[in-house]
Amino acid sequence: MAKKTVADIPASEFKGKKVFVRCDFNVPLDEKLKITSDKRIQAALPTIKYLIEKGARVIMASHLGRPKGEVKPEMSLKPVQQRLAELLKLEVKMASDCIGPEVKQLVEALKDGEVLLLENLRFHKEETKNDPGFAKELASLADIYVSDAFGTVHRAHASTEGIAHDLPAYVGFLIEKELKFLEGALTDPKRPFVAIIGGAKISGKLEVLKNLLNKVDKLIIGGGMAYTFFKARGTKVGNSLVEPELIKEAKEILKAAIDKDVPFLLPLDHIVADKFAEDANTQEVPRTTIPDGWQGMDIGPDTIKKFSNAIKDAKTIIWNGPMGVFEMDKFATGTIAIAKAVAEATANGAISIIGGGDSASAVKKAGLADKMSHISTGGGASLEFLEGKVLPGIAVLQDK
Ligand code: 3PG
Repeated sequence: MAKKTVADIPASEFKGKKVFVRCDFNVPLDEKLKITSDKRIQAALPTIKYLIEKGARVIMASHLGRPKGEVKPEMSLKPVQQRLAELLKLEVKMASDCIGPEVKQLVEALKDGEVLLLENLRFHKEETKNDPGFAKELASLADIYVSDAFGTVHRAHASTEGIAHDLPAYVGFLIEKELKFLEGALTDPKRPFVAIIGGAKISGKLEVLKNLLNKVDKLIIGGGMAYTFFKARGTKVGNSLVEPELIKEAKEILKAAIDKDVPFLLPLDHIVADKFAEDANTQEVPRTTIPDGWQGMDIGPDTIKKFSNAIKDAKTIIWNGPMGVFEMDKFATGTIAIAKAVAEATANGAISIIGGGDSASAVKKAGLADKMSHISTGGGASLEFLEGKVLPGIAVLQDK
C-alpha cells in the first residue's frame, strides 16, 4: 500500500513544527575524513529543501559506519555537516550527540526554516537494538517524523522503526522515488522484463533469484556467482570461485527456471586468469574449458554479445551485481559493456533500475550513471526489496 509522503502534510502544518528526518548519510570517507562520494547527501536534498521552504524546523539524523555503540571520532557526521552547508548554501547547526540536554536546547533554539544535524545515531548501542526508550527520546525532539533513509529501511532500528510508533510518520521524496521504481518493476513491469544478477557470490542473492524467477521474462547471470551454477551443472570451472554448500540450491534454481520457462542465461565464454590479481596472465576460453589452475574473472566477448542482445529489447531492466572483477581495470570490460547495453536500452525507452553498492559503482565507472532511469541509494535495502521482503522502516509508516 502507498505510504503518506511529506507532500501529504498540509502546508499550514509546517510552521513552528519540528520535523525529524532520518537520512542515510552513511557516505564513504577517505583516510583524511574527506567524503569520496556525496551521492547519498545529494539524494536527500529534495526532502530537506522542501521542509526548509515550508518553514519547518528541520532535525536531520543518520548513522555513519558501524561504531557499535561507541563514540568513534572518525565516524562523526561532521564532514556531512560541511557538505550539507555547501549544498544547501545555508548554516547547518550540528549537535555533539543525538539525544540529551544539549540536543534539546539546540532543537528548542531552532527557528522556522533552520536546520540541525544530530551526531551519529550509532554512537548509542540502543539505536541498532531498537530500544523503545531511546526511540522515545528521539521522538521527543520533534512533532513529525520523515523517513528518507532508503539505504537503512531494511533495518528495524530506533531511528528507522521505533520512532515511527511515537510520531506521525511520513516518507520523504527519496524513498517515494525508490519505491516508485522498485515497486513498479516488481508489480507492474513493462515487458520484456530482464534481470541481470551478478557479483561474486550466490549467498545473499538466492532469495532474490527465487523471487525474480516469478516476475521476469529473462534472467541473466554473470560474475563469480555463475561458477556455482556451472558446478551445479557438472561443468569444469578450474579454480573459479564456487560456493560448494550452495550447489544444491543452485540446482533447484536451475530447475525452477526450466519449470517456469524463464530463459536463464549463463556466460558462453570467460576471461580467465592464473591468479586473482591485476598483473595475472589471462586467456579467453569457452564455457566448458576453464583449465585447472585458472579462474574466471570476467565474461568473454561472445557472452557480451549474447547478453547485450538479450537486453536490447527489454522494457524493464533490473541490474544487481557486476559481471566480473570490475574493480580491476583488466577485468572490467564485461561489466562496462553490459552497462552500455543497459544505457542503450534505456535510451530506447526501457526503465532501468540499478541496485546500490557495487552495481552503482560499476555504472559510474562506465561513465553511464546519468543514462540509467534510477540508481538505488540502498545496496542491502534494494536487495531485500527484490527478495520480496517487508522492509520494517517502510511497513511502520502511515498508509495513504
Ligand atoms: C548502507 O550503507 O547500505 C546503509 O547505510 C546501511 O548500513 P548498514 O549495513 O551498516 O546498516
